[in-house]
Amino acid sequence: MKAQGDKITMLTAYDCLFAGLIDAAGIDIILIGDSLGMVVMGYESTVPVTLEQVIHHTQAVASTAERALLVADMPFGSYEASDEQAIRNAQRLVKEGGAQTVKVEGGNELVRQRVGAIIRAGVPVMGHLGLTPQTASMLGGLRVQGREAGAARQILEQARLLEEEEVFSLLFECIPADLMRRITHEACVPTIGIGAGIHCDGQVLVTHDMLGLYPSSARHVRQYCDLRAIVEEALTQYCSDVQQGLFPGDENSFRMPAEELDKLG
Ligand code: KIV
Repeated sequence: MKAQGDKITMLTAYDCLFAGLIDAAGIDIILIGDSLGMVVMGYESTVPVTLEQVIHHTQAVASTAERALLVADMPFGSYEASDEQAIRNAQRLVKEGGAQTVKVEGGNELVRQRVGAIIRAGVPVMGHLGLTPQTASMLGGLRVQGREAGAARQILEQARLLEEEEVFSLLFECIPADLMRRITHEACVPTIGIGAGIHCDGQVLVTHDMLGLYPSSARHVRQYCDLRAIVEEALTQYCSDVQQGLFPGDENSFRMPAEELDKLG
């Protein structure tokens, strides 16, 4: 698709319902992101997410997604300790979860070594550079990365080195569009952006953000509908209908045949 100039589409999913909808809509890649920590579990960050949780949600997504490529996130603490740990956990996401590939955050020497080990063990890896939420505290918080030339150069270099490890794709979160243009031009593998501007081979968003389900004021999010308002209205209406005796109606109720009712007395 990169070679043909066809833009790649990617969204997150954590359950069979949304996975089915996203797959049927023709989205190319479904990410079972560790954003499930905030969106599904109500955590304040992705840090507490466990491998078991990602496997659990990947199983749900894999049960309905028939066409899209499935990428499962390797959560914080699931790959740093050793190559053996990284390989074992990546393979669990594939064998038990049903993912086809995994995503790993970061580009320092340790992470690159783990990425190479996972790939050599037979699991394709998507790299994740720029803002890496799992280690945001090391980056000064959830903020745009690579605004200064030195930091931009480091991202460019890490992208190049991850390509040498043979990642199949690179995702960039919250970096300047000018830097993204340069990376996409230089990279042989497809680049996917979130908050990285238009010069990527593809785009990804957290589905709950773009549907207006999860309150987000982030600049990089475009909200395509206000599902939260629709759901809130339906819930309020249900509550009021039950309280006023308007639900269930006749059409929602079952009847006994008249003769059976007579027999009952
Ligand atoms: O976990 C996630 O949803 C992600 C996206 C923000 C790219 O990594």
